[in-house]
Amino acid sequence: MRVLLTGGAGFIGQHLARALTAGGHDVTALDLLVPQVHADAEAAVRTFPGEVVRGDVADPGAWAALARPDAVVHLAAETGTAQSMYEQERYRSVNVGGTTLAGEHAARWQVPLVALSSRAVYGEGRYEDGAPVASREDDPHHPVSVYGETKSQGEAALLPAAGRVPVTIVRPQNVVGPGQALHNPYTGVLAAFLAMLREGRPVTVYGDGSQTRDFVHVADVAVLLTWLVDHPGDTGAPRVLNAGTGVRTSLLQLAHQAIAGRPDGVDAAVEVVHLDVHRAGDIEHACADLARLRESGAPLPAWTTADAVADFVRRSWDQPGARASAWDDALEELADRGLTS
Ligand SMILES: NC(=O)c1ccc[n+]([C@@H]2O[C@H](COP(=O)([O-])OP(=O)(O)OC[C@H]3O[C@@H](n4cnc5c(N)ncnc54)[C@H](O)[C@@H]3O)[C@@H](O)[C@H]2O)c1
Repeated sequence: MRVLLTGGAGFIGQHLARALTAGGHDVTALDLLVPQVHADAEAAVRTFPGEVVRGDVADPGAWAALARPDAVVHLAAETGTAQSMYEQERYRSVNVGGTTLAGEHAARWQVPLVALSSRAVYGEGRYEDGAPVASREDDPHHPVSVYGETKSQGEAALLPAAGRVPVTIVRPQNVVGPGQALHNPYTGVLAAFLAMLREGRPVTVYGDGSQTRDFVHVADVAVLLTWLVDHPGDTGAPRVLNAGTGVRTSLLQLAHQAIAGRPDGVDAAVEVVHLDVHRAGDIEHACADLARLRESGAPLPAWTTADAVADFVRRSWDQPGARASAWDDALEELADRGLTS
């Protein structure tokens, strides 16, 4: 099959492209190669195992110029939660406008679509007896960031297409692994921890570190997405699936897992410090309920979070990336805009 990957030159897209080609598919990317994600756009193009067409998913002309594929995986998005709070127009145009066009073209081409949403649609998620519970796909949408809002609206924008072609919506939790953007201080707590560790700085955790997330290895997400391309499902309502491990990890645990994963083995000396700050758009707890994924017959994650974190740190250690001060600057920018408390 010829599979079109929007945002294919990005973190998840590159892993997925390799998994798809290993499974006998041909891949093409439609990607704007945005500088915030790609410090070296040429390298991203070279690494991608197919043609990269440079274009904007929010531009109808970019879609019109593409040849009809056999399936579409829509990954292109603006992904910074905190940044979405002040770059709202850009986030809406790419994440809602781009997703609307992805649905329209899949329907026009009569090909199945797999679209990446996010766990951000759940916002803080449900609590039972005062304790957070894992989010199920039928839970209501309560996004607390513009990013989450645009992902929720993007899902809604796919409903017309789902009546005409099979549409799968995937809501990943926090995806980690080699190849994740190390230059982009607007995403990825783990990239921030890596930068701090490499510079011998204490690892700074925002808040008390008891916040929890569900960190899933990118290879597991790529295996899942490949399976979904190979098993497109039916037309009608979209098939909606969580992607995660189903296991909670606190940010403090994450910091210690990152420290333990460093390849030089110097862990005793690393200090974890807490910064008493809350960023607008951040939530306390997130975790995926995987019951529906299990029932669907799709492959379940193979990596534990601790192994995924260690794999990321080990394989990213010598890769170029932003200085830890880039995350300090991003936080300062938020504070200047009144988006921290
Ligand atoms: N990485 C995660 O933890 C995570 C979690 C939940 C959901 N997701 C979703 O998965 C998808 C892929 O995420 P990722 O981590 O690979 O992000 P990424 O930033 O590494 O990749 C996104 C790609 O999209 C491209 N892009 C951005 N705007 C574009 C535009 N207007 N037109 C064309 N291309 C554009 C970028 O150049 C980049 O190559 C996104 O939809 C994201 O919201 C990711």
